[in-house]
Amino acid sequence: MKRVAILISGSGSNMLCLLESMQGAHPARPVLVVSNDPAAAGLARAAERGIATASVDHRAFKGDRAAFEAELLRPILAAAPDILCLAGFMRVLTPAFVERFRGRMLNIHPSLLPKYPGLHTHARALAAGDPQAGCTVHEVTPELDAGPILGQARVPVLPGDTEATLAARVLEAEHRLYPAVLARFAAGDRRPVLL
Ligand code: GRF
Repeated sequence: MKRVAILISGSGSNMLCLLESMQGAHPARPVLVVSNDPAAAGLARAAERGIATASVDHRAFKGDRAAFEAELLRPILAAAPDILCLAGFMRVLTPAFVERFRGRMLNIHPSLLPKYPGLHTHARALAAGDPQAGCTVHEVTPELDAGPILGQARVPVLPGDTEATLAARVLEAEHRLYPAVLARFAAGDRRPVLL
């Protein structure tokens, strides 16, 4: 049974879908939800489901990423996860942290990578007039949003779409994609999930 730690920064809607998926015959179970923001709403949502939680306020480290990550590692290592899932986690991790979990740390990004790494993905897809948008789950490597792709879900861009309506449609696809990828990845299968 694989032990999964989930890293969040805010509402944790992806985290919630991952928690709810890890039931029954699923090869993984959640062991920790941790956030860089003590006020992240996802922490309460995890705690009310009986999942251990922790938080390390990144603002206390004033940009010293290594010091922040040294603190963040404490609850993570104590939980001894096999897999880390970044789910709406909005901090860039240092290469040292990434190397420590290389090959077993996943992230979900709201674009069809390699298109639109970084921020404002929906605005960029709309500005480009793309007919489709979507989301990607990938292995985390030191280069931002660039690791091996483990899954993608496509959604149409519709006439009259705004950044908000497109973001909502992509988020719904994320909620389907991430659990499907985690189930396959936790079973040792790295074939991409395409939805
Ligand atoms: C969303 O914008 C999502 O596209 C991205 O992270 C943000 C928050 O996700 N993955 P969540 O609701 O905290 O899972």
